[in-house]
Amino acid sequence: MPEVRLEEVQRFMEDCLRGAGAPVAEAKAHAELLLHADVTGHYSHGLNRLELYINDIKSGATDPNAKPVILKESAATAWVDGGNALGATVGNFCMDVAIRKAKESGVGWVSAKGCNHFGMAGWWALKAERQGLIGMAFTNSSPIMVPTRSKERACGTNPVAMFAPAADGDSLGVDMASTTAAMGKIEVQIHKGESIPHGWALGPDGKTTSDAQLAFNTGHLLPLGGFEQTSGYKGFCLSAMIEVFCSGLSGANATHNIRGWALDSKEGPPNLGQCFAVINPECFAPGFAERVADCLRTYRNLQPVDPSLPVLAPGDKERINAEKTKSRGTIVYAQRQVDVSNAVAATVGVRPLQVVA
Ligand SMILES: NC(=O)c1ccc[n+]([C@@H]2O[C@H](COP(=O)([O-])OP(=O)(O)OC[C@H]3O[C@@H](n4cnc5c(N)ncnc54)[C@H](O)[C@@H]3O)[C@@H](O)[C@H]2O)c1
Repeated sequence: MPEVRLEEVQRFMEDCLRGAGAPVAEAKAHAELLLHADVTGHYSHGLNRLELYINDIKSGATDPNAKPVILKESAATAWVDGGNALGATVGNFCMDVAIRKAKESGVGWVSAKGCNHFGMAGWWALKAERQGLIGMAFTNSSPIMVPTRSKERACGTNPVAMFAPAADGDSLGVDMASTTAAMGKIEVQIHKGESIPHGWALGPDGKTTSDAQLAFNTGHLLPLGGFEQTSGYKGFCLSAMIEVFCSGLSGANATHNIRGWALDSKEGPPNLGQCFAVINPECFAPGFAERVADCLRTYRNLQPVDPSLPVLAPGDKERINAEKTKSRGTIVYAQRQVDVSNAVAATVGVRPLQVVA
């Protein structure tokens, strides 16, 4: 499979975004968001998502020159209009506001309307964690989850992310969809020509399917937990909770009113709702970072069922992937991913990804 150097992936994504009309700083910030996903092993939300962003800029659904504005604020809160700007433009703006408010008031809670897809929710939570704060990020999405007992979709893959600092530079990081898997993971399986595990998605007959293309075309993902017998309603409930934070507070579209999931939608701006929250642990009991570190140590030291598979703490998988990727200096993509990306680049006059010989 083709290998591409990290700097080349950044160059390529930045060039494509600029070629589509994004200013230099916005293109750089958005490419950094995508690169982080590939570096940490979430290929669903890296280069794989570039096609969506370029198409949305070209169709006018995303305005890469737009700047978010605060519509209303208090000491600890802000209501923001994202103005259909790029996901990273809104994410950086809102998280910076939430961090500032948490430093001043102990907590910062920002909800935004007029948003576009913002990639990995975890990237935004991490921004606060890097400053010694607890960061959280949420978004709604196109309706592709089938709620428990429903034949029809109404909820999103609505992810939740939380990063908390721990002693000695460590952290506890949770970043996950409220469906069993993110839609992008199905797209990655299509690129690799591989099937998906049963329990991720339903086919048109309402039964689980392992056919990745059929699952993508049907767009009926199961909530986290799967069917009712395996507590899938908890993923449905989680998605509904995130909906309250995202569209409920901001006045953005609720998931059931958001345009359908497509990589080349002609339905205009999705008007997603997003939410960014920050807590300053220093406002609470002393020793926070040590207690988080104690939890991490406890989880990692648990006796594994299979000695070759050590117990991981939340966030460890991404950390391990990032260490391996950075030491190798390259990312390995499926050939089809490179081909699709190069085809997108050609439409905006950008030279193809240079693959390591
Ligand atoms: N912007 C959007 O609309 C959107 C929608 C859905 C998902 N996403 C993103 O997609 C990405 C992938 O989501 P996902 O749910 O498919 O990811 P996933 O199923 O890989 O779950 C990831 C989470 O599980 C933890 N984890 C993984 N294996 C573990 C183990 N063995 N033990 C303990 N913890 C473990 C990870 O550290 C991480 O916190 C996320 O970054 C998410 O934010 C974005």
